[in-house]
Amino acid sequence: MTTKLIVSTLICCSFLMGCSPSVKNEQTEQAKPSETLANEIQVGKDYHSFANPDEVKVTHLLLDLNVDFEQKILSGSVELDYKKIDLSAKTLVLDTRDLTILNVTANGKDIPYVLSSQDSFLGAALTIELPLEGNTVKVEYHTSPQASGVQWLTPAQTAGKKQPFLFTQSQAIHARSFIPLQDSPQVRVTYEAKIHTPKALLAVMSAANDPNTPRDGEYEFSMPQPIPSYLIALAVGDLHFKAMGERTGVYSEASILDAAAAEFEDTESMLIATEETFGPYSWDRYDLLILPPSFPFGGMENPRLSFITPTVIAGDKSLVSLIAHELAHSWSGNTVTNATWRDLWLNEGFTTYLTYRIMEMVYGEKRFAMEAVLGRQDLQADIDTLPADDQILAIDLRGRDPDDVFSNIPYEKGALFLRELEQKVGRAEFDKFLLAYFKHFNFQSITTDQFVDYLELNLVKPHSDVLSMARINEWIHAPGVPAGAPEPQSDAFTVVDQARNDWLEGKISAKDILVTEWATHQWLYFLNNMPEKLTQEQLTELDAAFSLTQSHNNEIAHSWLLMGVKNWYEPAFPRLHDYLVSIGRNKLVKPLYKALSETPEGKKMAQKAFAEAKDAYHPLTVKANEGFVE
Ligand code: BES
Ligand code: ZN
Repeated sequence: MTTKLIVSTLICCSFLMGCSPSVKNEQTEQAKPSETLANEIQVGKDYHSFANPDEVKVTHLLLDLNVDFEQKILSGSVELDYKKIDLSAKTLVLDTRDLTILNVTANGKDIPYVLSSQDSFLGAALTIELPLEGNTVKVEYHTSPQASGVQWLTPAQTAGKKQPFLFTQSQAIHARSFIPLQDSPQVRVTYEAKIHTPKALLAVMSAANDPNTPRDGEYEFSMPQPIPSYLIALAVGDLHFKAMGERTGVYSEASILDAAAAEFEDTESMLIATEETFGPYSWDRYDLLILPPSFPFGGMENPRLSFITPTVIAGDKSLVSLIAHELAHSWSGNTVTNATWRDLWLNEGFTTYLTYRIMEMVYGEKRFAMEAVLGRQDLQADIDTLPADDQILAIDLRGRDPDDVFSNIPYEKGALFLRELEQKVGRAEFDKFLLAYFKHFNFQSITTDQFVDYLELNLVKPHSDVLSMARINEWIHAPGVPAGAPEPQSDAFTVVDQARNDWLEGKISAKDILVTEWATHQWLYFLNNMPEKLTQEQLTELDAAFSLTQSHNNEIAHSWLLMGVKNWYEPAFPRLHDYLVSIGRNKLVKPLYKALSETPEGKKMAQKAFAEAKDAYHPLTVKANEGFVE
């Protein structure tokens, strides 16, 4: 990577009018990677972008893209308006990955540019010589069918089976695979887009969507609030809309529209409750887009239009905390944004804390308490397996692909940290602090250090009797969870522990456990806390009593199938295969592939499922799991 970068930088310098200071800096800095890594992290430096926003900042995008399902490419142009931060700046550096650049123009004339060779996960820098006049450049380009941020689905891979489907997933650094731009969360842009699709399909974006737009293959969008590039999103398919509330609705394929609208009907209440506590919603409408099951995440907080996996449509609202989570990002993440991927916990930790608060407000204390205990257990599972350096909130990601570092740490450890602050100063005080924080940093991208400074001034100083900077720094910079951290408790789990223990000790048989009133969360707690090893008889008994192999709840099925793999419970294997080939949500399939890969027989099953499913998996799910089936 280093060599490639130097070579490309040199080429660019050789024919451009001169190198900008940051390009030169990059050259010297990159020349000695070991030294750079040994050095202190430069706070606020985005190590995952080639762009030069300190010199030239892109402020607005105008996209004009044709969606070609035959060739699986997006083609067209982007006009980028920019502002010089350094008046002597001569070049604009954009991020790209697997893009074919056809030309770059300004004021209707070609201008010089250089596309560097491609780094394995950062992509390639597109260095453009700035024109002498104006503040706009236009890049004509097309994407590659392998674009890491775009998934193209054939009609057979959709619910309706008749029309193809496309969706993008930009976070963390994949927007560059379908738009040449400054792909850094510290650059915010407004955007407009014209999207041309086959006539029968509807396009939607993370922008103002009009549910009543004529379905004619020509769609126009505008996003008037400035957003970071990782929130730019597009989906195209045989989509339909159903309103859920005044400001909320759902888009999906026709066959799941009613089920989705019923499952998520509390979205409007969630929105109102969040506004009441954490300040006004900044984004006008809040709609959901339900994607095909290959969507690699549970959800993605694309502004005005969260992208949601269909695997949470359980029929009983048991998994809707996902909606609370994506909605909460409208405050933590979309208005106050992490400045670099090291600061991801500012997005995800705050959002996870808010999620718990929303669930408590809308569904009550019992539901919240169960979810908090399960979250704490997920966190512990990661602490028990991750290296110490990966257990730190402000993690050092230099030289690493953010996709490879996904864990519960920024989420649940971040949320637990905020819970401690809440408990120390009291809920009313903490809510006041959060309200002010969201207002203060509205539409800004901030670093962990900026947050800590703000926290020190606005919470630690006024509450120095109960808070200290040493404790704050321990939370942010030390591995694990500090001693004395809040311990979530749920009374609803006491009966579950009792039942599990009695059954394991042979005091009762499975069918005698009183489960009729059990919530999904109690089932998850029951299963997730079983001993690693169970006998075939025990598994058979549980399955006979509770039909776990056939569970329609994808989270319960996940926990059960994982136990099935670890204990080689063959009756569950046909279901396991179906599960792996029909779901592409990485959080659900990856632990199964990993567990299967640990034995030779398991690996064969994994290989079979992966080979069958691969074409329908998203590039990120392929990347995350292909190592398990080699
Ligand atoms: N923004 C994330 C997804 C994400 C994070 C994508 C980092 C790429 C890099 C989204 O809001 C999220 O957290 N999704 C979770 C939801 C869950 C914690 C409720 C998921 O997909 O599992
Ligand atoms: Zn999130």
